[in-house]
Amino acid sequence: MCGIVGYVGERRATPVVLDGLRRLEYRGYDSAGIAIVSDGEITCTRRVGFVAALEAVVPPTLPGTTGIGHTRWATHGGVTEANAHPHLDSTNRVAVCHNGIIENHTVLRSRLEEEGIAFRSDTDTEVLAHLISKFYSGDPEAAVRQALSHIQGTWGIAVVFLDHPGLIVAARNGSPLVVGKGEGETFLASDPHALAAYTRQVVYLEDRDLVTITARGWTISRLDGAGVSRGVEVLGEEWTSEGRGEFSHHMLKEIHEQPESLARGVLGRVVPDEGGARLGGFDLTPRAIAAIRHIRVLGCGTSFHAGMVGAAAMEGLARIPATAEIASEFRYRNPVISADDLFFAVSQSGETADTLGAVREVQIKGGSVLGVVNVVGSSIARSCGRGVYVHSGPEIAVASTKAFTSQVAALLVAALSFARTRVLGPHEGKAFGEELLAVPKRVGEWLAADNPGVMEAVELCAQGKFVFFLGRGVSHAVALEGALKLKEVAYIPCMAYPAAEMKHGPIALLDKRTPVVVVVPDDVMRDKTLSSVQEVRARGARVILVHTEGDAAAQRLADVSIPVPRSSTLISPLFTVLPLQLLSFRAGLALGRDIDRPRNLAKSVTVE
Ligand code: AGP
Repeated sequence: MCGIVGYVGERRATPVVLDGLRRLEYRGYDSAGIAIVSDGEITCTRRVGFVAALEAVVPPTLPGTTGIGHTRWATHGGVTEANAHPHLDSTNRVAVCHNGIIENHTVLRSRLEEEGIAFRSDTDTEVLAHLISKFYSGDPEAAVRQALSHIQGTWGIAVVFLDHPGLIVAARNGSPLVVGKGEGETFLASDPHALAAYTRQVVYLEDRDLVTITARGWTISRLDGAGVSRGVEVLGEEWTSEGRGEFSHHMLKEIHEQPESLARGVLGRVVPDEGGARLGGFDLTPRAIAAIRHIRVLGCGTSFHAGMVGAAAMEGLARIPATAEIASEFRYRNPVISADDLFFAVSQSGETADTLGAVREVQIKGGSVLGVVNVVGSSIARSCGRGVYVHSGPEIAVASTKAFTSQVAALLVAALSFARTRVLGPHEGKAFGEELLAVPKRVGEWLAADNPGVMEAVELCAQGKFVFFLGRGVSHAVALEGALKLKEVAYIPCMAYPAAEMKHGPIALLDKRTPVVVVVPDDVMRDKTLSSVQEVRARGARVILVHTEGDAAAQRLADVSIPVPRSSTLISPLFTVLPLQLLSFRAGLALGRDIDRPRNLAKSVTVE
């Protein structure tokens, strides 16, 4: 949520910072800005809209070799040029980019106003620019340190000073920052996407770190002044492939990458000969697995939906009581955490503040939490310390697709491994493992085939004022995921319900025009779900059925039929979600939406 880029070196900073902002635009795209230190001034340019709008007006020949930039997702203050970052102090000698939220900004602002400071924006960030300026007396690092000692909240900040044209001071608390090591140049960014084109050698800052960056390198200290050293890590290959390739949109590319992303998640982990699975990152002994009394899977949005499938698998396959919980709600009910509970934190970005907060709540209470994360080295992965990377590869589209299936696959592999340790025999384990291993190829075949039902469904949904999604068990999680996708990509109001709950109220919403998407694989709940379909049909609503191929009875009940491959129940979400991903993509396209950058959203939600 919001992207920060910084550069100090020998090249002109402007193109490097703008390029980094383009790569980080998926983090927030309300407005963007850049501050370059050159020729005795800080040249600050900001624009509402995409980075392209900023590029169009930034003087291309600015000579400065030190600069910072920001792409914003508005929290405090509307989407205006005045509220775009960077923010300057009153004397235009300090410029600040900030991700996060300054919780005590109101009181700080009042104090500064009493001292005669005139504010130019509605943002919380501007107080930082004035505070740093107030405490500055020649030592940039000391000024930032002192200013931050007055701040309550979260921050990832980058600060430049007119008096120090070859230097950036940055600090992190709750909002990620990474330093990139170059030859005679140093980079800064809120995530490695901005850096991978320039360097693969990076240093991740930890919370309450402060770093001073020059072209020659960097010095990291703690906010209280204590020295600290952080190791250089090498970014994996996956950070370098970001183009859309042959595809018109990142979302479409990522949908079609699922055969490969799923293969990365299951190959080498599922071991059919043993009828089980190996996940070294969990670091759990068979004895520890046998002692688990309850599993709780935490996540937000799509990751929560994947967590619902994971919890069902832990309970259904491994026979461990399991629930999925929305991470943003979890910690505020002062949850009881027992030593024999095991938590999973599911997150694509690994930076979601609500999920990170839930992880900390578990850890504060002595609980054990494993990460199920895509982005290597991200905050949640690091906080958990143990867990599994889902290996989707970079997901750029704001709407999550391949991360969902990779998360589900990782949780299914985990469930298989736990199940084998506790209750599952080798034959059942082998069958489940073999079915999992076959999924990537079967997903590829389904995606490559002509699926006319998807376009028919698009026609119904794009015309509808409201779309209703139904499913039961793991298919309820898929229904929720399908509804979330259609909301965020096509802006169509949707609701998802467990099918049998429909008659307890929401059926009142149905009329002859309502498209109802029902996820009904051929499993133990099929007949019950088809009864709900009859109730839908009796109200004259239009039925779009995602069903198992060859299920003629289900097909007969459908206005639009979308067959998917046959599978066991727990594995079915890896197939049934595919048409719903394509439905939202195609509906968004038909309605002229900005598919990869839906309005009001950002890829990683690093504020509460
Ligand atoms: C998915 O399409 C959404 N953009 C969103 O719900 C997302 O899944 C959620 O914000 C959690 O993100 P995370 O997986 O990075 O933690």
